Amino acid sequence: MADTTVFTFADSQGLAERLARGAGLPWRPVDVRQFPDGESLVRVSAATDHVVLVRSLYHPTAKIFEVLLAASALRDNGAKTITLVAPYLGYMRQDKAFHDGEAVSQRVMGDVIGRYVDRVVAVEPHLHRTHDLTAVFKGREALAISGAPAVAAAMAAKLSHDTVVIGPDEESAPLAKTVAAPLNLSWTVGTKVRHGDRKVSLTLPDNVTLLGKPVLIVDDIISSGVTILAAAQAAQARGASQVRVACVHALFDNGVMADFHQTGIVSVDAGDGAPHAATSFSLDQTIIAAMTAKGWLT
Ligand code: R5P
Repeated sequence: MADTTVFTFADSQGLAERLARGAGLPWRPVDVRQFPDGESLVRVSAATDHVVLVRSLYHPTAKIFEVLLAASALRDNGAKTITLVAPYLGYMRQDKAFHDGEAVSQRVMGDVIGRYVDRVVAVEPHLHRTHDLTAVFKGREALAISGAPAVAAAMAAKLSHDTVVIGPDEESAPLAKTVAAPLNLSWTVGTKVRHGDRKVSLTLPDNVTLLGKPVLIVDDIISSGVTILAAAQAAQARGASQVRVACVHALFDNGVMADFHQTGIVSVDAGDGAPHAATSFSLDQTIIAAMTAKGWLT
């Protein structure tokens, strides 16, 4: 019997099954039942020595507590090592108090989750001032995986050789560069100023020629969608012939897709870390490759 088992919540089952199959591991469900008052009863079957616990933490607030309950139950039932794979890892963006009195959610996530699991794996976690996921989960091993190989593989057949890859802001430069490199495409990033949750302004560098060229806008996440809309409009204003969009995690409301299409965006592709109408590719191989390299899937 393998001494590693993948456990998954129902809302992450698709990706977890693909991961387990790809890694040659068995998988088991984490059962969750709601009491009439809304509390969750979490139940697991007997654990192996090593457990890979998969739950993507989009819409994370309630999910996080269930993950802690599952990790606790797995430990009580034999797990010696628990690796949490949260393809989308929420609550990372608030890495400091931007205004008086605000909670630093990233620090709380690190403290709480780090008490229950031994390792954390995420794809394109929303890190800005903290560059290293191990700094979030102090004393635990952590792995932040780039979503770029999955984005590049998904988009390769759709892009012509003159496509320019655009990241909306300086922080998206590593993603834009690593998507563009294997496809032999040029890339650039914009300058974004956020004025509110749903308001940004964005400019593209003057020295980049987009006239008559298709562009691919890439980002780690799409949340409200305003960053993508501003980037698409900026590219169109510079004469781009076609705008496609790809992101690692699509978190936006369905209505935003209509805004994208009205703006002239011809396609939006996203990974399966947060299942969405835009999901068109899986992060499974990227996660398997990165975890295998660390020896965390045996
Ligand atoms: C910014 O830091 C991120 O990389 C995304 O650009 C941003 O979170 C997208 O948010 P929205 O869709 O709300 O503009």
